[in-house]
This record gives sequence, structure tokens and C-alpha cells, in this order.
Amino acid sequence: MKLLSPIKIGNLEIKNRVIMAPMTNNFAKDGFITEQMIDFYEERAKGGVGVITVEDGIVDFPIGNNAKNPVAIDDDKYIPLLKKLGTAIKKHGAKAAIQLSHAGRRAGRVTLENGYLEVTRGQIPVAPSMIAHPFPGQVTPRELREEEIEEIIEKFGQAARRAVEAGFDLISIHCAHMYLCGEFLSPWANKRQDKYGGSLENRLRFVLEIIEKVKSVVGEDFPLIARMNGQEPEGGNSFLEIREIARRLQLAGIKAISVSTGFGAVLHEKNFISAEAPIGTPEGCIVNLAENIKIGVTIPVAVGNKIRHPQFAEDVLQKNQADMITLGRPLITDPYWVQKVTEGRYQDIRPCVSCCYGCVGSVLKGTPITCILNPSAGKEGKKEFRYVPVNKRDVKKVLIIGGGPAGLQAAITAATRGHKVNLWEKERELGGTIVLAAKPPRKQELNEIVNYFKNKINQLNVQVELGKEANEKAVKEFKADVIILASGGNRIIPDIKGIKGNKNVYWALDLLKNDYTDIGQKIVIIGGGEVGLETAEWLAEKGKTVTVIEILPEVARDMVHAVKVPLMISLKDYGVKIYTNTRIKQIKSDGVIMERNGAEETIKVDAIVIAVGVKAEDKLENKLRDVVPKLFCIGDCQRPGNIMDAVHEGFKIGLQV
Ligand SMILES: Cc1cc2nc3c(=O)[nH]c(=O)nc-3n(C[C@H](O)[C@H](O)[C@H](O)COP(=O)(O)OP(=O)(O)OC[C@H]3O[C@@H](n4cnc5c(N)ncnc54)[C@H](O)[C@@H]3O)c2cc1C
Ligand SMILES: Cc1cc2nc3c(=O)[nH]c(=O)nc-3n(C[C@H](O)[C@H](O)[C@H](O)COP(=O)(O)O)c2cc1C
Ligand code: SF4
Repeated sequence: MKLLSPIKIGNLEIKNRVIMAPMTNNFAKDGFITEQMIDFYEERAKGGVGVITVEDGIVDFPIGNNAKNPVAIDDDKYIPLLKKLGTAIKKHGAKAAIQLSHAGRRAGRVTLENGYLEVTRGQIPVAPSMIAHPFPGQVTPRELREEEIEEIIEKFGQAARRAVEAGFDLISIHCAHMYLCGEFLSPWANKRQDKYGGSLENRLRFVLEIIEKVKSVVGEDFPLIARMNGQEPEGGNSFLEIREIARRLQLAGIKAISVSTGFGAVLHEKNFISAEAPIGTPEGCIVNLAENIKIGVTIPVAVGNKIRHPQFAEDVLQKNQADMITLGRPLITDPYWVQKVTEGRYQDIRPCVSCCYGCVGSVLKGTPITCILNPSAGKEGKKEFRYVPVNKRDVKKVLIIGGGPAGLQAAITAATRGHKVNLWEKERELGGTIVLAAKPPRKQELNEIVNYFKNKINQLNVQVELGKEANEKAVKEFKADVIILASGGNRIIPDIKGIKGNKNVYWALDLLKNDYTDIGQKIVIIGGGEVGLETAEWLAEKGKTVTVIEILPEVARDMVHAVKVPLMISLKDYGVKIYTNTRIKQIKSDGVIMERNGAEETIKVDAIVIAVGVKAEDKLENKLRDVVPKLFCIGDCQRPGNIMDAVHEGFKIGLQV
């Protein structure tokens, strides 16, 4: 496979063509590398990638921070721990790279709850021009003076020296994502009139001076990578200018280009791909951007963003669309992606489904990253997160009730440890609610979770009985040592006059389950959470006229921005009406009466669809509690949540039994 063949960046030989993309993870503390971070990266190095890129090393902490807890590299005091990290990465044959970065105006993000500039610790951020980054909570930055620009260039140089002293093999300069370097490069953010603004030549000056400075410190031949955007929003660089920038970077001494896109915010522009392309975006969504850049350069070009499958990655290389592949999220989900490819075990790769929930969502909240499908991400060094095989005499007969993500993960974890596991599922297929969650447009990738689980269950010889509904009698007779109840939630029936007895009332879950849409043309959905909105999109796609009613001021408040924006754009395109701060007072045979702004309004519809979520289900639990030796209740049946809650709880209980 070309993917697994060596390649050179400058004079440095890399063992294969997979680069771990830089990903800020909020594991650092006061700018220092932590043991948690070393364990996280080392695990990925063990997994076989050619290069590990350590996330943004901030050259001016905290004013240049990109997140609440980034890695700092603006003082020699950080070198010893950086060295420890680099050594841990290199021990496993991976080359260690670190990204040098200054977040510019993007650092100026206020915490919405208290208005504090949490990322910069209260400082007003700096930028080429006084224009705020277009994302909620971003403040207007201060324009940098020329002498300050020179100081920042010097800081990049000093940061590069520290990276080399810490033993890093490569340095990546962050010119993407509209951080400070990207801001200078782009007329979208740079409105300066001096030698750093205006013409492309002038906009390039800041980055070229950084490269010059870095080279003067680390030497002409030290392998430098530039990460840059292959696409900019309207008013930014054109594709031709982007190609020219890449050409000039090579001329300046850059030895490889890593192509990315986006800028941490999602634009309400349909064709603009975000830095972390969400679920539903086609695989390899920015490969064409790499192709554009490749025309301008002869150095290796790396591309990523939703390249998830080995065969797809291989095709990109075979077609010469890029020379290397960057993997970000797929390596959070499965650190052993490369090793599994090397061994031909494609089916065993735990799939990243680009949900952005555990990773990007956490960075935005200022908490350490995790992954919905990998409960060990960020916990690699913790023994309570490791599989400990059971002694032969401790092998238990485990019965799992429910084949959703909670039950499946519990089964896999317990069986991996050596327990004898049986799983009963009342439906004729595994997957639980994920099967329904995967039905709306753009959600099909969720099916990969189910396929991965099914494959694992088969490998581990878990005895699965489909179409088997657990009841008190059957469970008692089975005589398991441990019962894990993972039977999902129970639908909430909202207290609305007329909800019972009206034939025009349907449940979103039933419609999705049965692919049933023969419910008339005009539909109102009660509940503007994720399920309500996605059901609205699913119905609108089938030609229905849909209105969503939400009692809260905002719909789907908990959805990650990157996933929510494309959904909202699609709903708008379909003409779906959304009423917030609105309460349904009564359901009638031909419509609903709703209350908005203190006034009542009636809308005539053919069908009313309820999408107000699920509640914990304790009926079976109450019956079993005193009649079985050991009972655990996990996932939605214990506390309604999401796939992450279900998988993480399944994993935890699987390790406990
Ligand atoms: C439309 C929709 C979209 C969603 N989208 C997302 C999303 O994008 N991201 C996300 O994180 N979450 C999403 N969710 C929520 C997520 O699917 C659930 O939180 C998750 O599936 C809960 O997992 P679970 O294993 O606890 O329960 P479930 O997935 O509900 O599985 C329970 C299983 O138990 C079986 N069962 C029940 N009773 C018995 C019995 N007596 N005997 C045998 N088997 C039984 C059921 O048939 C079912 O298969 C979505 C939900 C819906 C409805
Ligand atoms: C949690 C998280 C943090 C990220 N932080 C950075 C970063 O510090 N620097 C950077 O250049 N890109 C960052 N990115 C973008 C990734 O490097 C990568 O380009 C993106 O995730 C798309 O690739 P993927 O689909 O393989 O994940 C981050 C992505 C994620 C998910
Ligand atoms: S949380 Fe979602 S997007 Fe992030 S790594 Fe895990 S599966 Fe991928």
C-alpha cells in the first residue's frame, strides 16, 4: 500500500504516509505538558502513525491561546516536559512534530455565561486589523503595531529553538484556520494599509518573515511544515492566490504543506467546509483543495478532514491527489488505526463518525476532549480504564438485556475480559435507537457504529438472541451471575389536552422505525430538540410541509455547532418553520392550538408528531432488583442521554463485572 510506504519531508524519512493532525485537547495545565497528554500521544505513536503532530504550541501565552488549556512554548521552563513528550512519541518509531501557533483574534472568545475572556485570561486579543472573528462571543481585537509584529516573529523563532531543544523532528507553522498567520495572509481578516497588508506580497510578509526567522534559528534544512487553508470564505484568498501562497512558502523553505480549511467557526455558507467537517459531509471533502495546492508546489502535500477509511486514503494517494494523509478524529477514536491497516484488519477499526460531540464539543466547552466511542481517549494512563482479563475462577455468566450502544459496549468489554456473555434483544436487529438515529439525512454514518459493534460481538463469541424480549420469568430462569439492563428509555407523553384519543398523533420514533410517512401533508412537530429537528428534516425531504414547536427560547441547545449549522441551513432550505418560546395548549383533530407571546394561535395540520424525548425506564429493573444476584442498569434506561453516555457506561460496567 502506498499509504504504508515511506516518504521524505526534506531530508527526514517518515516510515509511512499517515500524519496525526494537530488537535488541541485541553489536557495541558498552565501551558505545561501533562502526564495525561503524554499518555494520549504515546498511545497514538504506538498505534503506528508516521508523524505525530502535537497540537498548537502557543508562542505567546496566554494572549495567543487557541483554547482554554493549550500547550505553551514561549518560555524555556516548558522545555523539560516537551522533551519528555517528544521522547515518548519517538520511542515508538513515529517522528515528533509540534505546531507553532498564535491564535490572533480567535483567542478573544468570551465565556457566554460571564462575559470573561477566558482563553486569553482577560486580555484583549491582537490581530492584523480591528475586526472580530465572526463567531458568537468573539470580541474586537486590537490592531498590532509594526514593532509588536516584529516581537511576535521573534517569539516564533524562540519557540522553534525550544522545539528543537526538546528533540522534536519537525516544526509545523500554523497558517490555517484564521489564526494570526492565516489572518495576515487573508484579505478577509487583514485590512492593513502598511507593508503587512494590501497586496498578496504584503500579506505574505508576516509568514515569510517567520519562516526566515525560524530557519535562522533551527537551520536551513530542518523540516518545516506549513499548515494552510485550501479554501477561504468570500472576500478571502482565491484558489489561485492560495496556490501562489503555497508556492511562495516552498520557495521560502517550507518542506511540506498540510492542507486544511475552516476556522473553528462554522459559516452559514453552504459550500464552506469547516475545519472539522461534520457527520454527513462526504469523505475526502477537501481533497480537491489539496489538488489545487499540489499544482503550485513540488514538496509533499498532506490532506485530511474526513478521510476515515484506509481504502479511501489509499485512493487519494494512488491518484496523486496528495502525498500524505492527516488523520485527526479517527485517531482519537482508534489510536491503532494504522496498525490495523497494516494487519489488514479494516473491520476492527473503531469508526469516527464525525459527530464532533466528544472532541470539538469539549474544546469549545473548555473541557478535556473525549470520544463518544472511545471512553479511554485521554485516560490512556489510568488503570481503571484498561481491560484486565478475569481469572478463570472468576468468569461470570453475564446476561445483557438490550442491543443498543450501552448493551453492545458492555457485552464487548465484558467478553473481552473473558466473561461468558449472552445478549437478548427484543427487535430483529442490533443497534437499538442508533438504527433510528441514522435515518434522518446526513446521519447514515452512525450505521458504522452498529457494524463495528456487530463485528466485535461476533469475534468475541457473544451469544446474541434477536427477537428475544426479556421478562422477569425468562431472566430468573436464565440464572445469570450478573444482569446488565440496557433496554433504553421510555417515551415521554407530554401533558397536552387532546394528545390521547386523537388519531392524528404520531411518535417520531415510530415514524422513523417504520419509515412511515403516510400521515398527510401538513405536519407539526412538538419538540425542537435534536430528534425533533432531524425528524423535521427527514419529513421535509419527503416533501412534507413541516412546522416545529419548541417551548424553550432556542432549539437543540446542546447540539455541537458544527453539526447543528448544516441542519439549520437544510431546514431553512426546506422551508421548515420553527417557533420557539411556544407552547402547545391543545391538540385537535385538525390541528393544534399554541400559545406564543401571550396569545393563542391555531394552526391547521394533518398530523402532530411528538418528539419530546425519552425518560428512564424502571419497570423491568424494579421487578428484577430483588430476584437476581447482581443487577446494573445503564444507558437511556437508567438516565436518558446520548450515544456517548451509553457507550461510556457500558464500558465502565463491562470493566466492573
Ligand atoms: C432520532 C434520534 C436521533 C438521535 N441522534 C443521536 C445522535 O446523533 N447522537 C447521539 O449521541 N445520540 C443520538 N440519539 C440518542 C441515542 O440514540 C440514545 O441515547 C442511545 O441509543 C441510547 O442507548 P441505549 O443502549 O441506552 O438504548 P437504546 O439504543 O434505546 O437500546 C435499547 C435496546 O434495548 C432493547 N430492549 C428494550 N427492552 C427490551 C427487553 N425487555 N428485552 C430485550 N431487549 C429490549 C430495545 O429494543 C433496544 O434495541 C438519537 C436518538 C434518536 C431517537
Ligand atoms: C478536538 C480538535 C482539536 C483541534 N485542534 C487543532 C489545532 O490545534 N490545530 C490545528 O491545526 N487543527 C486542529 N484541529 C483540526 C484537525 O487538525 C483536523 O484538521 C480536523 O479534525 C479534520 O481532520 P479529521 O477529519 O481527520 O479529524 C482540531 C480538531 C479537533 C477535532
Ligand atoms: S467524538 Fe465523534 S467526531 Fe470526535 S473523535 Fe469521537 S466519533 Fe469522532
